[in-house]
Amino acid sequence: MIPKKVQLVEVAPRDGLQNEKLWVETETKIALIEKLAKAGLTKIEATSFVSPKWVPQMKDAFEVLSGIERRPGVSYPVLTPNIKGFEKALEAGATEVAVFGAASEAFSQNNINCSIAESVERFRPIIAAAQKSGIRVRGYISCVLGCPYQGVVSVADVVKLALQMFEMGCYEISLGDTIGIGTPLQVKKMVEAVTKKVPVSKLALHFHDTRGQALANIYACLELGVSVIDSSIAGLGGCPYAHGASGNVATEDVVYMLHGMGIETGVELEKLIEVGRFISDVFGRAPQSKVTLAS
Ligand code: HMG
Ligand code: MG
Repeated sequence: MIPKKVQLVEVAPRDGLQNEKLWVETETKIALIEKLAKAGLTKIEATSFVSPKWVPQMKDAFEVLSGIERRPGVSYPVLTPNIKGFEKALEAGATEVAVFGAASEAFSQNNINCSIAESVERFRPIIAAAQKSGIRVRGYISCVLGCPYQGVVSVADVVKLALQMFEMGCYEISLGDTIGIGTPLQVKKMVEAVTKKVPVSKLALHFHDTRGQALANIYACLELGVSVIDSSIAGLGGCPYAHGASGNVATEDVVYMLHGMGIETGVELEKLIEVGRFISDVFGRAPQSKVTLAS
């Protein structure tokens, strides 16, 4: 059941940088994305077309997405919270977008200023417009294992939203442990419940590593057949609206584990480690990747 090949979705240019207070120059963001592609990553979330008042670091979304030298075979999805963001993304040359909701009512209000039901209504016109333009839409669900505001999140709420987003036309649902709170058996239960409604081939994992559980959680889900994993170079990451959401699991560490298990990723670990050092230098800190620290 463990897959032979895993599709990595690199989220550092978006999830990694959105939480950083230090302004990162547009050309540095573009250089990061291009280096990640050269290391062999084929799916790189480039930026997000959200309100610059809410997330100032992403205010150059248009310049970043339109400025990348695109590599054949690589896709550069971007976050679009509403039709306004979608239209801008389209103008900047987006070929894949992502909508994002939450299984927690409180998180939805804090992150996107609306209820879960309202967020679903916001997704509809985005998905309809995307389908007209031949653009694929990915769906994120945050707080699948716990919420920084309401605490417990029920598995039933995760399953309900995953099914809704899948039926609306999201080609893949990325399940987010936004605050890195889950443990392996809990994750397995949740993913098993979701796979009763959405095929496992349509699911991705998006784990923040706040409590050091991400690799164990990923392994648990590989056993269920999940084969798409979101990760972030140098372990950058967090969500400005989730206190305690520290970095995403580091791409270097995920790649080390997968290659060690004989699972293909198409990525060159040595090159990745260099990219992790490049972006960590921008912030004047060591990469939050154990593999890099050990190399
Ligand atoms: P709102 O304030 O409710 O919306 O924001 P609004 O429609 O009333 O607009 C307010 C202002 O924002 C207006 O400007 C709009 O023009 C502007 P004003 O008239 O005041 O000058 N605006 C925009 N500007 C640029 N692009 C846009 C856009 N939309 C409105 N697309 C909204 C609603 C969703 C826009 C807002 O809440 C927002 O941008 N939130 C950002 C949330 C965010 O980016 N969170 C982090 C990403 S999610 C995440 O990290 C989790 C994830 O990684 C998975 C996981 O880890 O779990 C994906
Ligand atoms: Mg995230």
